[in-house]
Amino acid sequence: MNAKIAAAKRASELVEDGMIIGIGSGTTVELFLTELKKRIESEGLEILGVPSSYQSKLLAVEAGIGLVDLLECPTLDMCIDGADEVDRNLNAVKGGGGAMTREKVVAHASNEVVFIVEERKVVETLSHPVPVEVIPFSLGFVLKKLEELMKECGSFALPRIRQGTGKLGPVVTDNGNFILDCDFGEIYDPGELEIELNSIPGVVECGIFTDVADRVIVGVDGGETYEIS
Ligand code: 5RP
Repeated sequence: MNAKIAAAKRASELVEDGMIIGIGSGTTVELFLTELKKRIESEGLEILGVPSSYQSKLLAVEAGIGLVDLLECPTLDMCIDGADEVDRNLNAVKGGGGAMTREKVVAHASNEVVFIVEERKVVETLSHPVPVEVIPFSLGFVLKKLEELMKECGSFALPRIRQGTGKLGPVVTDNGNFILDCDFGEIYDPGELEIELNSIPGVVECGIFTDVADRVIVGVDGGETYEIS
């Protein structure tokens, strides 16, 4: 927990008065918003933000961040988000919380993108299962295409429809879609896989993020941080 808090606190220090920020989702972002709330209250910062999920929308309101949307503010100053896995080339797998589509949009809308992670999430080669958001109409077709692609990549796994907890049946995203978790094994060319996944008709977005992060703040257990950039 120390590592997460350290990364979240460091990121909160990067936010300046008057900024419009993209707000990711997840438990590390929750800690970031807790830290930012302290600064908003003690320093009187005025911050606007575009949240990437209902989770972060509720937390942003609680933190005293003014909500705006991309129609009003299509360019954001900075995006802060967590990740499930990052490599040293600033590629990441995201979507553990099922919010990767909006997370990718706010990241690409931002002038600077910062991921905040604990050190255990930093790897040499990405291998975390990749979440793929799919419109329900296309489910059978996309399952077949993903199965073929996973086989081509040397994986014997099958795409898994993410199941909800607290409600029966599949997870339904904030966009009304399903999520398929796809274990490709080691991902040697994340950029290529991101393009291939996103070119399947019916796929809305996948959880591979390449060419978008400017830096990663890594928290370590002792409470220190370091950066990958
Ligand atoms: C949600 C995400 C999260 O950023 C990712 O799952 C990391 O979450 P956490 O900070 O809880 O470990 O991509 O869609």
